Amino acid sequence: MDTDTMARDDTARKPARSTGDARLEEHFEARIAEGEFIEPKDWMPEHYRKTLVRQISQHAHSEYVGMLPEGNWITRAPTLKRKAILLAKVQDEAGHGLYLYCAAETLDASRDRMLAALHSGQAKYSSIFNYPTLTWADVGTIGWLVDGAAIMNQVPICRCSYGPYARAMIRICREESFHQRQGFDSLLVMMQQGTQAQKAMVQDAVNRWWWPSVMMFGPPDDQSPNSAQSMRWGIKRISNDELRQKFIDAAVEQAKVLGVTLPDPELKWNEERQHYDFGRIDWDEFWRVVNGNGPCNRERLAACVNAWDDGAWVREAALAHERKQQVQEAA
Ligand code: 3HC
Repeated sequence: MDTDTMARDDTARKPARSTGDARLEEHFEARIAEGEFIEPKDWMPEHYRKTLVRQISQHAHSEYVGMLPEGNWITRAPTLKRKAILLAKVQDEAGHGLYLYCAAETLDASRDRMLAALHSGQAKYSSIFNYPTLTWADVGTIGWLVDGAAIMNQVPICRCSYGPYARAMIRICREESFHQRQGFDSLLVMMQQGTQAQKAMVQDAVNRWWWPSVMMFGPPDDQSPNSAQSMRWGIKRISNDELRQKFIDAAVEQAKVLGVTLPDPELKWNEERQHYDFGRIDWDEFWRVVNGNGPCNRERLAACVNAWDDGAWVREAALAHERKQQVQEAA
């Protein structure tokens, strides 16, 4: 089910744009231009609402699916400290998913429908979570690179024009910052105090996660169908390519501190641009993964569907409890 289907039922019956609508739209655009937040009960163009439901629900799904690659390592974390950190991190991702589903619900999106779209494979979620976590070093590398990329992308969303999304992102970004730092710290310990085998394991993980992390920011600006309108509406503040460049510039310096090599021979400081140049991104791989054919897409979806089915009794119990309370209150 796509976001259009999730939209309010009245959309299809909407009459052609009236003078009243034009005035409302003008007022809305003026508020956006003034940098005001748009709140759930404010008038908004239908396309603005749908764009937000699309992005926020995909973002929520990403947080939710994002628990799986690392959750895989909770029982195998090497020390009690690393296990406690990883548990907290994975729980944070669940919390982020919940804030974001709530933010989408303020736009009349139904949570059941959003989840049905995820479970049927129709909804998108971040490409990055369709790669396997083969070794313990993958957990640190996800923290450093994947959460690092997520922060780069998400800090500007704290200034998104839609109030509930912007406010949810403030807390999410604080937690993501901890996620990035714990990953970097875990890798630094292995690179500075580890055996040769541990250092090689870190380098191998970096080799596998680098390009998928660079792809996370989405297609190049000139091939991004949603960017122009989302930028005009202040949903997106910084473009896919600009964020990707900022991420690469920061990661190159961090890689030097860690003592790892990024797997791109074309990475080179460009004095004129004041940025690092980088090699060609394999966009065929990106679209393969986005379209459901990455290394772990099927496994990830199956895990989500199983978790949903296993949780049926919890939902039933919660509803039974709610009904009981209503009866008691009415008595
Ligand atoms: N993975 C999967 N799909 C992607 C993608 C990616 N990395 N990048 C882009 N796409 C999809 C878009 O969703 C869009 O599909 P649609 O039109 O069918 O909905 C299509 O590719 C074209 O891309 P656009 O650039 O036109 O799309 P957007 O303007 O929506 O930009 C985005 C894409 C930059 C990902 C933007 O939606 C965004 O900033 N979203 C919020 C942040 C987010 O969702 N992050 C995901 C990672 S969350 C995370 O990492 C959790 C952390 O704990 C690790």
